[in-house]
Amino acid sequence: MVKQIAVLTSGGDAPGMNAAIRAVTRTAIGRGWNAFGVRNGFAGLIAGTIVPLRARDVGGIMQVGGTVLGSARCPEFKTEEGRVAALRMLSQHDIDALVVVGGNGSQTGAFELSRMGYPVVGVASTIDNDLAGSEITIGVDTALNIALEAIDRLKVTASSHQRAFLVEVMGRECGYLALMAGIAGGAELSVIPEVDTDPEEVASIVRDAYKRGKPHALVVVAEGAKQDASALAAYFAIHRERLGFELRVTTLGHVQRGGSPGASDRLLATRLGAAATEQIALGRHGVLVGSLKGEIVPTPLAEIAGKAKPLDTSLIQLAGVLAQ
Ligand code: F6P
Repeated sequence: MVKQIAVLTSGGDAPGMNAAIRAVTRTAIGRGWNAFGVRNGFAGLIAGTIVPLRARDVGGIMQVGGTVLGSARCPEFKTEEGRVAALRMLSQHDIDALVVVGGNGSQTGAFELSRMGYPVVGVASTIDNDLAGSEITIGVDTALNIALEAIDRLKVTASSHQRAFLVEVMGRECGYLALMAGIAGGAELSVIPEVDTDPEEVASIVRDAYKRGKPHALVVVAEGAKQDASALAAYFAIHRERLGFELRVTTLGHVQRGGSPGASDRLLATRLGAAATEQIALGRHGVLVGSLKGEIVPTPLAEIAGKAKPLDTSLIQLAGVLAQ
């Protein structure tokens, strides 16, 4: 019997999603199945915008950032009615199984569909790297490299003027991107949601960096930190006289999401996409495929849905030691 599987990308786009779409499509076709793409995530599932994907349709997309299928945030899918409408569309299009490429919210949606009895396999993809079930997710490496390029450039101008800079990176409630960008970018400090940081502490770290002879000071701030970049900048503006310096702010925002995926993300996405098809072929579903200890492994969606992956605290200590 011919199997028909569909793939969708959901939530914030991440560089590498296209490689996952390509891998799902071509591994499905390689098994003699038909592949379909759902446009605009769960919203497209509800609307029934499901199109056939042939091998040529997914050619030349791997090096492109974003997702050729489109993505969306879909509040309607959080309701029972929304999910029932989605299931109706899957049945109307004779789709036997669905692959959901996305992060936390998307995999919670995937879990809800699977709880309703539909065969779903998740693929771990988010620049935030906050998804349990995968030590690294699609898009993280490219987003980090984009942040690093910005940090390296800011250090050049900061050194010319002996200035202090705040760089705000994305990450939602997770400090992974900020911490890693801070370590790899040689920042004085990373301000992250997982650790409460007082603005006075930031001031003393920046001041000490100058005292130790540094030509610049750079602090990476996670968007989800209690003291985000705008709060810190406001504090430093108010206390400028006493603190003796101000902070210039650069917010990277969505720039981090739009890059062409690097080799790591293309390869990870390809392996995860292929593994998703394999899970379906093995008759396994209700799982997320992710990378754990270098292996591509499935984890039940029930174990990861709604859970945030904790940050490795040893890296926080390491960041402090390195910023001497
Ligand atoms: O989850 C990925 C992410 O880029 C987060 O880092 C960020 O908080 C959020 O999406 C932004 O969402 P949107 O693109 O909907 O503004």
